[in-house]
Amino acid sequence: MARDKIAVIGAGHVGATAAHWMAQRHLGDIVLVDVAEGIPQGKALDLEEASPLAPWDERISGTQDLAQIRGAGMVVLTAGAVRKPGMSRDDLLAVNRRIVEDVARGVAEQAPEACLLVVTNPVDVMTYLAWRTSGFPAARVFGMAGVLDSTRFRTFLARELGVSVRDVSAFVLGGHGDQMVPLVRYSYAGGIPVQQLLPPDTIQRLVERTRSGGGEIVSLLKSGSAYYAPGASIAEMVEAVLRDQRRILPTVARVAGEYGERDIYVGVPAVLGEGGVRRVLEIELNEEERQDFAASAAAVRRVLAQLG
Ligand code: LAC
Repeated sequence: MARDKIAVIGAGHVGATAAHWMAQRHLGDIVLVDVAEGIPQGKALDLEEASPLAPWDERISGTQDLAQIRGAGMVVLTAGAVRKPGMSRDDLLAVNRRIVEDVARGVAEQAPEACLLVVTNPVDVMTYLAWRTSGFPAARVFGMAGVLDSTRFRTFLARELGVSVRDVSAFVLGGHGDQMVPLVRYSYAGGIPVQQLLPPDTIQRLVERTRSGGGEIVSLLKSGSAYYAPGASIAEMVEAVLRDQRRILPTVARVAGEYGERDIYVGVPAVLGEGGVRRVLEIELNEEERQDFAASAAAVRRVLAQLG
C-alpha cells in the first residue's frame, strides 16, 4: 500500500516539530514547504538523517515549490508570523491573512482532494479564511487549537493531582484566545470528575493558566512561541484523519447552528476521521458555560469582521 503523503506549509519551529512527531508516528511521507531558501531542505535532511535511529522509513523532503505537495492527502498550514511578548494572537491578523490566502489558493490548485489543517494564528479566523479561499467543503478544512489547550489543561491537572497524565481528560471549547472555555465539568481523572478531587480555587487557577498558556511560553521564550506541544497536537489530529480513527477531539470547525452559532469557525468537539470533520458534537452546557462560549464566539466574530 502506498504511504500517505503529508504536506507541511511553513518550516518554522511548529512545522518542523510537527513533522518530527508525525514521522515518529509513521503517519506518512512528509514534504516541508517554506519560502525561506534552504530552511525546509535543511530541516528535512536533518530529520531524514535521524531515520535509521528513530527508526522510520517514511521520507521527509523540503522545498520552496508548492507544486511538490501534489498527491498529499493532508496539508498542514503553519506558515505565518508568530507572537512577540505583549502581542495577542489577533495582532497577527494583517500579516498572516495574506499568507493564508495565498497558500489556500495554492493548495486548492495542487492538492484539490486534501484535508487542510490550519494552525496559523489567529487560528479560528485563519481557518475560516482558508475555507473561504480554498472553496473546499467545510468538512475538509479545520483548525488546531483545542487539542493544544486541552493538553495544557490536562498537564496542569495531572501535576496538581500527582497522577498520570494518561488518566486525565479535559475539554477546552471556544476560540483559541484568552476567552477560551476550559470545561471543568467535563474534565476527569480516572473517570472521576476533577471537581471531586480539587478545590474550586485550585481549579480556577489552572483554568487561568490554561487560558494564558500560549502567552506564558511566549514571555519565557522572548522570541517565538510554543512548538513542542503544538506540534504534538497537530500529529494527534493528522493521525485521527489519516487512520480514520473517529477520535472525538476539540477542533476548530465550522458551526451550522450548533451552540447557537453559525457561519463561523470556532472550537467545538468533533469526530475526526477519513475526510476530516465527520460530525460536530453538541454537548449540554450550563448557563455559565453557554455565556462563556457565546463571549468567546463573539470575540472570534469581531476579528472575523475585520476581514471584510
Ligand atoms: C499557543 C499558540 C501556538 O497557544 O497559539 O502556544
